[in-house]
Amino acid sequence: MPKIIKTLKEMREESIALREGGETIVFVPTMGFLHDGHRALLKVGRRLGSTLVMSIFVNPTQFGPKEDLASYPRDLERDLKMADEEGVDIVFTPSALEMYPEGFSTHVEVTGLSDILCGASRPGHFRGVATVVLKLFNIVMPHRALFGRKDFQQLRVIERMVKDLDLQVEIAGIETIREKDGLAMSSRNSYLGKEERRAAQCVPRAMEEARRIVADGEAQSSVVTEKVKKIIENEPLAVVDYIKVCRADNLLDAPVIDECSMLFLAVKIGKARLIDNTRLR
Ligand code: PAJ
Repeated sequence: MPKIIKTLKEMREESIALREGGETIVFVPTMGFLHDGHRALLKVGRRLGSTLVMSIFVNPTQFGPKEDLASYPRDLERDLKMADEEGVDIVFTPSALEMYPEGFSTHVEVTGLSDILCGASRPGHFRGVATVVLKLFNIVMPHRALFGRKDFQQLRVIERMVKDLDLQVEIAGIETIREKDGLAMSSRNSYLGKEERRAAQCVPRAMEEARRIVADGEAQSSVVTEKVKKIIENEPLAVVDYIKVCRADNLLDAPVIDECSMLFLAVKIGKARLIDNTRLR
């Protein structure tokens, strides 16, 4: 079983000792309720260093006031079992009170990148993510940290923060792990009822159609996003949040599709807000 560390002091002391002992610390931050997407990160992480640390912390500052912080799914026992199966050495589970004590007032703002796509729909979300990830980096002191490309904008925000603030950690992005029908795995998929789960298939289906028409020669982003919109809107349970084609490097709008363009979408189905992305070429 992995060692469970709950306090910041103990985690910091452990990391200092590991570093002094010449270990390479690989870090996978999560909010728990693990699935095969998290497992993929842990599997890669296991190979990238000698000590694998995973955090489980449902970070309150990245949830909006009307979002699902209170109902976010949790199952620590199951998470620990999975962590054990994936060879995790340390599971760090800090308390919100210790992470954000009274008087807490410093935040990391990655401007620009944080204000578009999901940032436009969820004001303050990426500020919460960047702040907690920087705090976790400072406590865990990893040599390497892994993030999923499912949350592509989050990955770009973290990379930008690491570059801008000269953090001594190497960031790696891991491909999206999907269910059999193509739906990207997510802890929030547990919100979907049976009918909603079926309806959610419209997201991978629309992405596949987008790739198909691009392969057939379509280069206008607006044509592709219109087609995707139609497929999603054809599903009565699905509500489009955004559908955009952006450049993979800076996430700015890409009116014409080339090798650097990606399709990003966010769709609401019932209580779940599903996000996904795909390369188009
Ligand atoms: P969480 O949603 O638990 O995700 C933890 C990590 O798993 C993230 O890097 C995410 O991109 C990755 N991940 C989730 N689903 C995936 C999938 N289907 N395939 C591949 N990777 C996947 O993202 C967060 O937590 C939080 O914002 C966090 C970074 C921990 C900060 O609080």
